[in-house]
Amino acid sequence: MKILLTGGAGFIGSHTAVALIENGFDPVIVDDFRNSEPFVIENIEKIVGKKITYYSLNIGNKEGVKNILQRENPVGVIHFAADKAVNESVLNPMKYYQNNVLNLINFLEVIDQMNINSFVFSSSCTVYGVPDKIPVNESALIKPAFSPYGYTKQVGERILTDFFKTKNKSSLTLLRYFNPIGAHPSGLIGELPIGVPSNLVPYITQAGIGKRKKLTVFGKDYDTKDGTCVRDYIHVVDLANAHVAALKKGLKRKDSIKTYNVGTGKGASVLDVIKAFEKVSQQGLNYEFGPRRAGDVPKIYSDNFLIKNELAWHPKFSLEDCLEHAWKWEKNLFNFKYKSEKKQD
Ligand SMILES: NC(=O)c1ccc[n+]([C@@H]2O[C@H](COP(=O)([O-])OP(=O)(O)OC[C@H]3O[C@@H](n4cnc5c(N)ncnc54)[C@H](O)[C@@H]3O)[C@@H](O)[C@H]2O)c1
Repeated sequence: MKILLTGGAGFIGSHTAVALIENGFDPVIVDDFRNSEPFVIENIEKIVGKKITYYSLNIGNKEGVKNILQRENPVGVIHFAADKAVNESVLNPMKYYQNNVLNLINFLEVIDQMNINSFVFSSSCTVYGVPDKIPVNESALIKPAFSPYGYTKQVGERILTDFFKTKNKSSLTLLRYFNPIGAHPSGLIGELPIGVPSNLVPYITQAGIGKRKKLTVFGKDYDTKDGTCVRDYIHVVDLANAHVAALKKGLKRKDSIKTYNVGTGKGASVLDVIKAFEKVSQQGLNYEFGPRRAGDVPKIYSDNFLIKNELAWHPKFSLEDCLEHAWKWEKNLFNFKYKSEKKQD
């Protein structure tokens, strides 16, 4: 069965392509490589031992998407394609509304004429803002978004919900990811370091290997166990498997809309992550404390009861596994050609 992956050459999409093949599906990737590189496709092929169908195209290109859909006739879609840097979205909001909202609408206009049985959307725990209760579950209130990026996820969920309410042969699954980290255990795919990373783990591994002078930990006086921010870090392979579970269930359901948190259900502080890195890499990390960063939620982790219960999905990897695989990926990166970062700090 063919499954269309928009943004399938990206961090989460590439791991999901592997997981789909391992589960007998046939992924078709559409990616314009704005935040990825063609070598990722080659490396997926190395992992799975077969050729991957992919198209280099902006998913906002209606004619192009229509041609691909008619040719490939997928039964499901997993929609990853979006810009994802929170800070950049504050500086350049129109880029985010254009890509994450307008291109989504263009894409839906095309799939409106097709029979897509199961549609899975990459949403985010950013939709919860600062939650009233932790662990946060799916019925928690959606708070005003801190950033244009966060707002595009809220709007995306709403647009898709309204769209799929009118379809009686398709199902929609909204997956709210917590903090995806790690890399494929082979070290062949992972998060590409394009630009200065705004996420903790790529920053740690880059500081570890010497691409960055040091890591700054933003804030040490939060009301958490060690004063640093707490997040729910989920291994990208576990997250990829959650997509397969959601897609499969969606193919069986008709006419329904479901929302699931995808997290481990456990919180880890920034210092926990640093310690895990130091343990697996057997080296100390050069870090210092800085002031709090505007917009950072002090503490959030998931209530993952629903996805475990309804999709029989369980995270398998530990925090140390995540750091071990991310570190392997970082050490492997010099073998690959990618858009290099312009700025060092
Ligand atoms: N990584 C995270 O921390 C995180 C957390 C929550 C949600 N998400 C969401 O998950 C999805 C995937 O994230 P990721 O970390 O894999 O990001 P990524 O940037 O690695 O992957 C996104 C891919 O989409 C492609 N793309 C973007 N716009 C496109 C367009 N218009 N047409 C074709 N291709 C396009 C990029 O080239 C890239 O390969 C995104 O929607 C993101 O917002 C990510």
